[in-house]
Amino acid sequence: MSPLVTRLLKADPAAIAEAGVILRAGGLVAFPTETVYGLGADATRGETVAKIYAAKERPQFNPLISHVPDLAAAERLGVFNADARALAEAFWPGPLTLVVPAAPGCAVSDLARAGLDSVALRVPAHPVAQALLRAAGVPVAAPSANRSGRVSPTHAGHVMGDLDGRIDCVLDGGPTQVGVESTIVACLGDDVRILRPGGVAREEIERVLGRKAAAAQADAAITAPGMLASHYAPNARLRLDATSIEKDEAVLDFGGRFADVQAASFDLSPTGDLAEAAVNLFAFLRALDATGAETIAVAPIPHEGLGEAIRDRLQRAAAPRG
Ligand code: TXA
Ligand code: MG
Repeated sequence: MSPLVTRLLKADPAAIAEAGVILRAGGLVAFPTETVYGLGADATRGETVAKIYAAKERPQFNPLISHVPDLAAAERLGVFNADARALAEAFWPGPLTLVVPAAPGCAVSDLARAGLDSVALRVPAHPVAQALLRAAGVPVAAPSANRSGRVSPTHAGHVMGDLDGRIDCVLDGGPTQVGVESTIVACLGDDVRILRPGGVAREEIERVLGRKAAAAQADAAITAPGMLASHYAPNARLRLDATSIEKDEAVLDFGGRFADVQAASFDLSPTGDLAEAAVNLFAFLRALDATGAETIAVAPIPHEGLGEAIRDRLQRAAAPRG
């Protein structure tokens, strides 16, 4: 693809209005959501969605999440059953994506849906994302704004590092608040299935449903092809649930367990706060990777609450590269 001049704009009202014009004109705009930065394009046009894959160098056409400003806009694109509506009302705007049957005449392009008869919809809470979606006036397809195989960006600088010269503009809204991607929940029939753990904890979803949600199937790679095992990949190897540190290892700590170890080390949350750990996760993986260490030892992360999403991302980052 021919190189572009990528503009890094502070996300003030004038820049957001301009970014809306760029999106409507078929351009690529990276923008902050409360989870991670997204790489947005007009979801209704296959040719603009194709630019996302080219910029990210994504090897496959995985289905993408379409972002809209509110539930009313979402209901024009997808069919919401009682479970989907209850979850939308409880968690939107916020870090939840709902996969629902596509509405008849759904405006989201086949390419953004990867040919599926369902559609993934999200109403983000971040004020910049909200303002941009209203300015754009079209559903915005947006995967995380990183090159394929890299960890998701939580700062505008991460986006520039991966995509400078490949997209039209980056709206800088500061660091993101949640730090891991949205929880993806499929409401396609009687059962509700969590396809990807994320910023809304399973326990919160089950509280709203009043029952257990099904886990992603073992063949989730087929139902959600974007969830390739090694999707979130730093260059370094990750050694998870480390209880001691070996020579030359860098350390991704949690709760101060390895505070006394002499090594390149970042603590996701010295106080053991999982929300703080989620915010720091991707930035610290990038920083430890940049030290050139061959292995990053990762302290045990609890399984409950946001720990499920953090552990999921770490497991993907640790998976052998395909
Ligand atoms: O927090 C987030 O969700 C971020 C921000 C930018 O909103 N976005 C994000 O998008 O993480 P992405 O493209 O990295 O992840 C989209 C996931 C993929 O795993 C994809 O396979 C799944 O959503 N997905 C999309 N449509 C689907 C569908 N119809 N059925 C099943 N899975 C779907
Ligand atoms: Mg991603």
